[in-house]
Amino acid sequence: MKPYEPSPTRYERMKYARCGNSGLLLPRLSLGLWHNFGDVDDFNVATDMILCAFDNGITHFDLANNYGPSPGSAEVNFGRIFREHLSAHRDEIIVSSKAGHLMWPGPYGDGSSRKNLMASLDQSLKRTGLEYFDIFYSHRYDGFTPVEETAQALIDMVRAGKALYVGISKYPPVKAKQMYDLLRAAGVPCLISQYRYSMFERTPEQENIALAAQEGSGFIAFSPLAQGLLTNKYLNGIPEHSRATRGVFLKAEQITPEKLAIIRQLNDMAAQRGQSLAQMALAWVLRDERVTSVIIGASSVRQLNDNLQTIERLDFTAEELERIDQILKG
Ligand SMILES: NC(=O)c1ccc[n+]([C@@H]2O[C@H](COP(=O)([O-])OP(=O)(O)OC[C@H]3O[C@@H](n4cnc5c(N)ncnc54)[C@H](OP(=O)(O)O)[C@@H]3O)[C@@H](O)[C@H]2O)c1
Repeated sequence: MKPYEPSPTRYERMKYARCGNSGLLLPRLSLGLWHNFGDVDDFNVATDMILCAFDNGITHFDLANNYGPSPGSAEVNFGRIFREHLSAHRDEIIVSSKAGHLMWPGPYGDGSSRKNLMASLDQSLKRTGLEYFDIFYSHRYDGFTPVEETAQALIDMVRAGKALYVGISKYPPVKAKQMYDLLRAAGVPCLISQYRYSMFERTPEQENIALAAQEGSGFIAFSPLAQGLLTNKYLNGIPEHSRATRGVFLKAEQITPEKLAIIRQLNDMAAQRGQSLAQMALAWVLRDERVTSVIIGASSVRQLNDNLQTIERLDFTAEELERIDQILKG
């Protein structure tokens, strides 16, 4: 097998943004491994997607302990792809992982406790074979662990050299504010905040984006394509092998005639802009400069290439944004 040589022009193909007040630049498009990188998926396709991403300037890969299926297998597969092709480029790559959702049985395999986070971090390092994560997240606020306890665990990970930076995911604003204050006071500021944000999920516009910016934390959006709804893929029914056929995280019932009517209008508008709907939906999330990056998912190199072209057209006129708002109102 010919050894992988990344494209020498990869960094010219991507745009980068400073993550909050930190010194770290992140690519405007990051690649997430929630779906399509598990042990039920095609390892060759997974490898091709990671290498295609890196070849196009995507330096940030987002994992979590439970990504698969089976849980943990996305970390194992990423580790193998990294060792086989990318280990010479470790210092060009930002790898994140997270802990906080159910991962192993019993009272310690879930939640935001110090016990869960510390054990998870060690397990994730072992699965990936990495010496450290660039970013480690508390995956969620669990509703009862004191934020002080979770914050101290995150601080100690950085002090132990197992994570360079830390972040939070899906924290309600009040708990996020507490976390920002605690982490800053300890000299380990919260690098980044991760929330679901897309044309179909605009809740972070109410508080989370502004709060992250005000606190000097970067903001990274997940599921920017609403798991595939904001593309042309469901316009003529539910294609085989699509996420909606698995019916776990995206269910066929969510693809209603009303939603499809909206998607159709957005698709027409994207065509008028000379973009695919996926590209317009990603550009729309990135229109706000407080949004450092979007984490995209993909199940093929073709989809990834479609999404990568977003970078070529990120601007919107005020009229276009107004029109999108009207369409989204149905
Ligand atoms: N912090 C958290 O709690 C949290 C939660 C969820 C996700 N995340 C992160 O965010 C990442 C992205 O989430 P996501 O996968 O839901 O993102 P997404 O970008 O909204 O959806 C990705 C899916 O959309 C479809 N797709 C993508 N590009 C397409 C294109 N050009 N044309 C047609 N279809 C296209 C594919 O579906 P098919 O597979 O059907 O082809 C793909 O798997 C995850 O991998 C993870 O890293 C974090």
